[in-house]
Formats: sequence, structure tokens, C-alpha cells
Amino acid sequence: MSRKRIGVLTSGGDCPGLNAVLHGVVSAATTRGYEVLGFLDGYEGLLNPVRYQRLDPVSVSHISHLGGTILGTTNRGRFVAKVGSGQKPVIDPQILRQAKDACRGLGIHALICIGGDGSLSTSLQLQKAGVNVVGVPKTIDNDILATATSFGFDSAVSCVVDSLDRLHTTARSHKRIMVVETMGRHAGWIALHGGLAGGADSILIPEIPFHLSKVAEFAKERASLGLASTMIVVAEGAIPAKGHLSTIGAGLRGQGEVRLGGIGAHVAQEMERRTGQETRHVVLGHLQRGGNPTALDRILGTRFGVGAVELVVKKNFGHMVSYQNYEMGGVAIAKAVARIRTVPPKGQFLHHAREIGICFGD
Ligand code: F6P
Repeated sequence: MSRKRIGVLTSGGDCPGLNAVLHGVVSAATTRGYEVLGFLDGYEGLLNPVRYQRLDPVSVSHISHLGGTILGTTNRGRFVAKVGSGQKPVIDPQILRQAKDACRGLGIHALICIGGDGSLSTSLQLQKAGVNVVGVPKTIDNDILATATSFGFDSAVSCVVDSLDRLHTTARSHKRIMVVETMGRHAGWIALHGGLAGGADSILIPEIPFHLSKVAEFAKERASLGLASTMIVVAEGAIPAKGHLSTIGAGLRGQGEVRLGGIGAHVAQEMERRTGQETRHVVLGHLQRGGNPTALDRILGTRFGVGAVELVVKKNFGHMVSYQNYEMGGVAIAKAVARIRTVPPKGQFLHHAREIGICFGD
């Protein structure tokens, strides 16, 4: 008798820990007697010409420590139909039908979709089109609702912290202001966690419109107290109270979400002008997504992978693995993609950061 098949794909921007998820999925699925097909380059692999590779315990052995994804991914392509921030993709019904036919033709009993909020919205449309879908939340931005966290965030934060450790020494030696731009899209989690752990003096996040006059006053006051340098971390989606979101245009061929960037350079230029103190800026960019996952992300990734197979076994389709109180469970994908999770401006984390004197520019 032929074995039941599970399909798996990685979609959207890559993220440290994806290979650990694949290892978890394939190992747990094989133990339960499933055969696993990994579709290549995200949802694109489901469309003609259909591209996949068979995954068995040998093909996923010793990959959990590797960054990126062995299946390839894309945040562009035929499944992407959004350009504006926060807009959900509405997939062409013909594309959905093609993908469904590919799954049916290959005898896929369930499809595990590992992706961020956009990719999970896509998976929900596939589910409605008749494919049995289980989601795994993937984000370095930490912005997916209905799960306490996802894999990838810790690795991105570690990159920020490592960078700040290096930048502090040069900033201090030259008595400069240093501005570090982080990723995170419309959520400030990476900047907030990275900034707090890395000793930032000021953190500017999308959730709190900031005044450059206040940040400049703060830096001048530090200088007057003999504090030679000031470290400012600014999230790519942070917006000046009297300004707008900094963007660098749409992606190639206008596909995908608008790209964020440029706020670090703007803040640096204004800080130098307003304080008279020499200022430099660094954009950490894709360094935050690259490299090997931290120990935490390897563990989370593996457990998210096993959790996904458990949802398939329980036939909890249309659900996503959710990590709450140190346990993996399931939650309706619809609940997870209703909106993104942002930093609560009145929350305890921000309160504690303010208590130690971090300036948010408000
Ligand atoms: O969502 C993850 C993320 O890394 C964001 O933080 C960032 O804005 C975006 O993806 C960058 O995407 P791309 O790979 O298209 O440059």
C-alpha cells in the first residue's frame, strides 16, 4: 500500500530556523508513516512546471544549524498580489486551482505552509480552495498574532546585539552619535529587543511617532554630562511625528510589498545638523536574516515542525502551530492573520525600557 503524502514549502523572506522546521516536519512525519514532498521556491513550486523534491530523514539530517532554507523561497512571484503595506494578497482563482490540482495529482493529503502573515493568508485561500493546509508562523519581525513568538526573531535580535557591541567601541572612541537601522517592517520588536540588549540609548519604533528635536536634545544632554557617544537604534518602519514612512520603492517588477528603508540615513543627517556632533549610520539589512540560527531558534524551529505534523495527524486543517506558555498547540490561521502584532505603547516592556532612561523620541 502506498504511503500517505504530506507536502511542505517555505514561503516569504527567509529566516534562520527554517531548516530546523523542515527537519522536525520530515522526522516526525516519517515516524508516523508519511512520505514528504518539499515544494521548491515557496508556492511557486506548486505551479507549472511543478517542482519538488522528496524529503526523507537522510536529506534533512544535520541541516537544523544552517540558515536559509534548503527548499528555496520567494516573497515575489505568481502568488503575490499585494503591493501596499498591510494589504492581504488576493490570489487569482486560476492560480489557486492550479496549485490544488498539483496537490491532488501528487496525492498530497496535507500541505504544511511555513510563512509570515502574507504567506499564511495565501495558505488560507488554498484551504478555502480545497487543499488541506497547516501553517507554521515564520518571521524575524515577531509580528504574527496568536503565537507568543516564532523562530528567527531571536537570531535577528542576536545580530543586532552583536553589531551594537561592535559599534559602541568605535562610537565611543570617536565621540560620535551612531544610528543603526534595523528590520521589522511595521513592528518595532527587533529594534526594541536588540536595542535594549545591546545598550542603545535611544530606540525609535513604528509604534511611537518620534520628534527629532527630542532625540537631539537627549543626545546634547548626554554630551553635557560627559557621555561621549550616543547609540540610536531606529526600526525601518519608524515614522517621525512630522514626517512619513521611508520607503525605497516596490520590489522588482513592482511585485510584493513596498520596501522600507532610509530612515537611518535621515535620522543621522538630522542628528548631526541639530547637535553639531559627528554622526554615522549603519543599515544592518539582510545580515539580520542571514547566518545560522541561535540555539533557541533551532529548538523552536524543530518543535514548530513536529507541532505541524501533529496538527496534520489530528486533521486540524486551516490551523497554524501556535507557541504559548512553552507548549506547541494550534490556532485558526484566520485568527493569526487578522492583523499584525505590534509593540503595545503602554506595555510593561516599554515601561521598563523608559525606567532605565531609554529615549523613544516622544
Ligand atoms: O519580513 C521580514 C523582512 O526581513 C522585513 O523585516 C524586511 O522589511 C523585509 O523582509 C525585506 O524583504 P526583502 O527580502 O524583500 O528585501
